[in-house]
Amino acid sequence: MIELLGKKHNKSDFDCGKELLNSYIQNQAGQDVKRKLSACFILTDDTNEIQGYYTLSNNSIPLNSFPENIRKKLPKSYTSIPATLLGRLAIDIKYQGKGIGKILLIDALKRSYEISKEIGSFAVVVDPIDEDAEKFYEKYGFIKLPDSGKMLIATKTLKELFE
Ligand SMILES: CC(C)(COP(=O)(O)OP(=O)(O)OC[C@H]1O[C@@H](n2cnc3c(N)ncnc32)[C@H](O)[C@@H]1OP(=O)(O)O)[C@@H](O)C(=O)NCCC(=O)NCCS
Repeated sequence: MIELLGKKHNKSDFDCGKELLNSYIQNQAGQDVKRKLSACFILTDDTNEIQGYYTLSNNSIPLNSFPENIRKKLPKSYTSIPATLLGRLAIDIKYQGKGIGKILLIDALKRSYEISKEIGSFAVVVDPIDEDAEKFYEKYGFIKLPDSGKMLIATKTLKELFE
């Protein structure tokens, strides 16, 4: 089941092989949730083990960081474009390669799409931690923004997927 991070979840044993993502869930996610800086969703079972997690936050992207073909379709009066940040996505090593990353990514995209019906969001943005992560997101249609290292998938594309 996928649910919001709570006190009952066993954060200390989580290991996805990437120290930054381990220490985020172990030491910072709870505080971020409390301060409303992010929402953190957990894939878990009856044992409260964390099999995987992702975070979502409001975000904005400077208009001039979009490639020309997208920028020309956006109003010039906007200096930044509203977006949803999928800040982190990680699966515990024990569960990697079993389709869970895909399940959590689709859950995050579906949730972002639903939210965009009530709070405008042009795209879902990710900031891949390394080349492996980049390849994972590329597989699902994310495109690279020039210069920043960030990648995005347009909400319009999500509409085609989920409607
Ligand atoms: C990257 C990560 C989220 C993928 O999760 P996962 O559960 O192992 O992936 P899945 O089993 O759901 O794989 C889904 C598909 O993506 C592919 N895939 C997985 N990792 C990939 C990678 N690094 N590069 C390219 N494709 C990848 C799989 O081959 C699979 O394709 P298929 O459906 O055609 O067989 C996971 O390995 C992870 O947590 N890594 C460490 C943290 C990390 O790098 N997070 C990235 C975001 S910051």
